Amino acid sequence: MYSDKIKYIGCDDADLELFESQYDLPEGMCYNSYLLQGEKIAVMDSVDPRKQEEWLANLKQALNGRKPDYLVAHHMEPDHSGSIRAFIKAYPEATIVASKQAFMFMTQFGIEATNTLIIKEGDELSLGGLTLQFIAAPMIHWPEVMMTYVPEEKTLFSADAFGKFGVYHADEDDWACEARRYYFNICGRFGQFVTKVMDKAAKLDIQTIAPLHGPVLDAGKLEEAVRLYNIWCRYDVETEGVLVAYASIHGNTAHAAEVLAEMLRKRGCPKVAITDLSRDDMGEAIEDAFRMNKMVLCCATYDMDIFPSMHLFLHELWQKQYQRRTVGILENGSWSPQAGRIIKAQLEQMKDITIVEPVVTIKSSLHDADLPALEALADAMMQ
Ligand code: FEO
Repeated sequence: MYSDKIKYIGCDDADLELFESQYDLPEGMCYNSYLLQGEKIAVMDSVDPRKQEEWLANLKQALNGRKPDYLVAHHMEPDHSGSIRAFIKAYPEATIVASKQAFMFMTQFGIEATNTLIIKEGDELSLGGLTLQFIAAPMIHWPEVMMTYVPEEKTLFSADAFGKFGVYHADEDDWACEARRYYFNICGRFGQFVTKVMDKAAKLDIQTIAPLHGPVLDAGKLEEAVRLYNIWCRYDVETEGVLVAYASIHGNTAHAAEVLAEMLRKRGCPKVAITDLSRDDMGEAIEDAFRMNKMVLCCATYDMDIFPSMHLFLHELWQKQYQRRTVGILENGSWSPQAGRIIKAQLEQMKDITIVEPVVTIKSSLHDADLPALEALADAMMQ
């Protein structure tokens, strides 16, 4: 519970290994749900069906013998809508409240709701003592998404926005790390939509943000979270530094990347991160690419193309609207290096990418004769 009228009834999912079947979860995940008690009672979202029974038990306990009047479905992705069917079965008289498109998705997911209330931007629903003011938040991170502002509690129910990976109490002293990885991988493509909602939210008196994942944000954490979101949604630079991302087959490209990273450190680069795209968490590489202003891509040539992990990385960056950054390239190839040419072509599909010269070419492994070119690239990255 975090106020007299709002109770937390969400669930931790500590055993989930991959979110959306792709993002590593070293500390699990949580699905947030809240019970709002005015004269009438509203449940804010359900949870992933993996935690359906626990959620229904939390709900029953919080209701303390009362019946819910509404279930507000802000977002229809199954990690939040997956237990609506069970809710309807348990509380058939309750009204399901959602956007028109959310009801269409409910039908697609095989959820039959008969008591329904369609809401849109600007609509209000009074619970008696609490007012639900609905805000359209399309593409955060699906098109049907709504948020709810409750003025009496100065609380914004923000759907996926301001969410993070991890169970509810994970990383309590460092919200940003897993919130950033979550943001760029889940919502990164939709920055212009997030920006619009941030501009709408700026006009509200918000003291608490209650997201669908991660902790409730209030005094002490709210201001910093909003500051970071205003950077992230605009694709601005959070940290001056260089991400060195490599795709190496036998370790020779990796070695060259390590040497380059050390050259950058020796030149006083404020932050140097290095990632093995074939072994490290791809989601973290994406996060670091957006976080910093510069990146060097080091890649082996493979089948006259780029190594698959680099291909995936570039594809993800393109999908997530990587832009306005400076990128250096180091290519490796034993007989016909092609990686630099192909990487350049892919970067040219992205918005406002500055490619740093020289592009460094090594043959099979890094030799002393290659060092001047590598030093020149390190110098250029520091400009
Ligand atoms: Fe947490 Fe887009 O679902």
